[in-house]
Amino acid sequence: MKNTRVLVASRPEGMVTGQNFRVEHSEAPVPADREFLIEVAYLIVTPPLRMWLTSGGLSGKPVPLGAPMRCAGLGRVVESRHPDFPVGQLVTGDMGWQRYVVSDGAAKAPVAKVTAREGLPARTLLHVLGSGGRTAYFGLTEYCKPRLGDTMVISGAAGNVGSILVQLARMQGCRVIGIAGSDRKCNWLTKELGCAGAVNYRNDDLPMRLRQLCPDGIDIFFDNVGGETLDAALGLIAPRARVVLCGATSQYNNDAEWYGPHNYFNLVYKQAEMHGFYIANFAARFDEAVNRLAPLVADGRIKYAEDVLDGLEQAPQALIRTLTGENFGVQLVKVSDAADK
Ligand SMILES: NC(=O)c1ccc[n+]([C@@H]2O[C@H](COP(=O)([O-])OP(=O)(O)OC[C@H]3O[C@@H](n4cnc5c(N)ncnc54)[C@H](OP(=O)(O)O)[C@@H]3O)[C@@H](O)[C@H]2O)c1
Repeated sequence: MKNTRVLVASRPEGMVTGQNFRVEHSEAPVPADREFLIEVAYLIVTPPLRMWLTSGGLSGKPVPLGAPMRCAGLGRVVESRHPDFPVGQLVTGDMGWQRYVVSDGAAKAPVAKVTAREGLPARTLLHVLGSGGRTAYFGLTEYCKPRLGDTMVISGAAGNVGSILVQLARMQGCRVIGIAGSDRKCNWLTKELGCAGAVNYRNDDLPMRLRQLCPDGIDIFFDNVGGETLDAALGLIAPRARVVLCGATSQYNNDAEWYGPHNYFNLVYKQAEMHGFYIANFAARFDEAVNRLAPLVADGRIKYAEDVLDGLEQAPQALIRTLTGENFGVQLVKVSDAADK
């Protein structure tokens, strides 16, 4: 079997380019005792991957030059010498930008066994029933403290986490305002997902539009993008607001210096709270989120959009698309038919 891998070739300065990667063709790896071979079906490409190229994010360890780019994926076991991972088993986990990967289920390419949910494509396990859904669910239930009628503003609202959160927050009785980077995304938020209003931060005067849409202030701000957007929202928080920090997509290309908020003292004036969270800390409760979300997705109460690029060689382009906002829906790369069989 022939393998294809997309390796990190150089460190980007600012925006990622195709030159930061190179494609390599080789023989597929062979599993040793208590190992198995996975054929990768889909990869989910999201903005924080950018940090693996330079700072390494939370771990502080960037992907070494010459190694496959890190990335979460969905695949199927196609050869096994491990009793717990039989041939045919679907798995998700850190698979990297490669078609075949050997795992022992633990330290070497850690993956978990998964089962597709009734009526839903297996690839939903990567987004609405994966990290995106879980992050939206625990972000809302553990930190946002929604109350009926609260005005909740969500940045990155048309993204993977944001679009699910919009719909969950509405179910809690919140009036939701979304921030996104195109008119098409804003229309989707208001016409399909039920936002009471949406702001195109690339075209609109963000602080002014937010002020118009939130005349009594923002009760909950859920932030996926950071930077000036966080600043604008902090300037408009209502008394006892909850500001929940999930991501900082606008800053991931800035290796030298991140933009810090100028309006932070409004937290004092409004006696508000600001809280960051990290989804990995909820690992023991992931099933709870998926069990709550799956029926809502299956009967269409939670909608999702996917943007699928065909072919592993497209992975660098996929990353660039998420960092420029060209994608519409969750950015996936289809590597093989392994999960569609
Ligand atoms: N805390 C946690 O445990 C946790 C877990 C999962 C994800 N996250 C974070 O949550 C955030 C959202 O993740 P996701 O997977 O749902 O990604 P996502 O929002 O689907 O990411 C893609 C979108 O990011 C937006 N974007 C790109 N560049 C931007 C910029 N300069 N300013 C503002 N928006 C920009 C684009 O949308 P527009 O066209 O609207 O700009 C793009 O379509 C990320 O920052 C991620 O790191 C955190």
